Amino acid sequence: MKTAIYPGSFDPITKGHLDVLKRAADIFDKVIIVVSVNVNKTSFIPLEDKIMLIREACKDLKNVEVDSFDGLTIEYAKKRNANVLIRGLRAVSDFEYEMQMSQANSALCSDIHTVFLITKPKYNFISSGTVKEIARMNGDISKFVPEPVAKYLEAKYTKG
Ligand code: PNS
Repeated sequence: MKTAIYPGSFDPITKGHLDVLKRAADIFDKVIIVVSVNVNKTSFIPLEDKIMLIREACKDLKNVEVDSFDGLTIEYAKKRNANVLIRGLRAVSDFEYEMQMSQANSALCSDIHTVFLITKPKYNFISSGTVKEIARMNGDISKFVPEPVAKYLEAKYTKG
């Protein structure tokens, strides 16, 4: 039984994340998508709402579990007996950050390997930041995020 961890801030989960998650779920027996804390980002969506949105977005993926963790990703991976981390790679601009994170994780725990899945071209430009910016200006984000996320953000920005 090979388990992989897919960590991220998912603020919110996008169709790009979901595509990476589905492909990882095709490769591994089990994938745990973990909402983690990125100390360099301020989260807009509360943790419980992120989890609820991810659960709704991936409810048809039977070998996917949704969880959260406030600590080092490698500690979470060890706790779950997983030695693979999944990350999506969009453009070259992602590479430096991802390489640094992967190397830092493997320096902390040499048994942990990061597997990168290249984003499909149609999702290449999508980021959680872009989605929030468009939603804030009342733009249509339905092409970029799963339906529950679009509804959630629209409601959140309308209510203020
Ligand atoms: O979606 P993001 O913000 O690029 O994800 C980054 C994340 C949350 C995976 C990363 O910041 C992380 O692993 N945070 C948990 C703390 C940790 O393990 N930090 C060391 C990684 S170098």
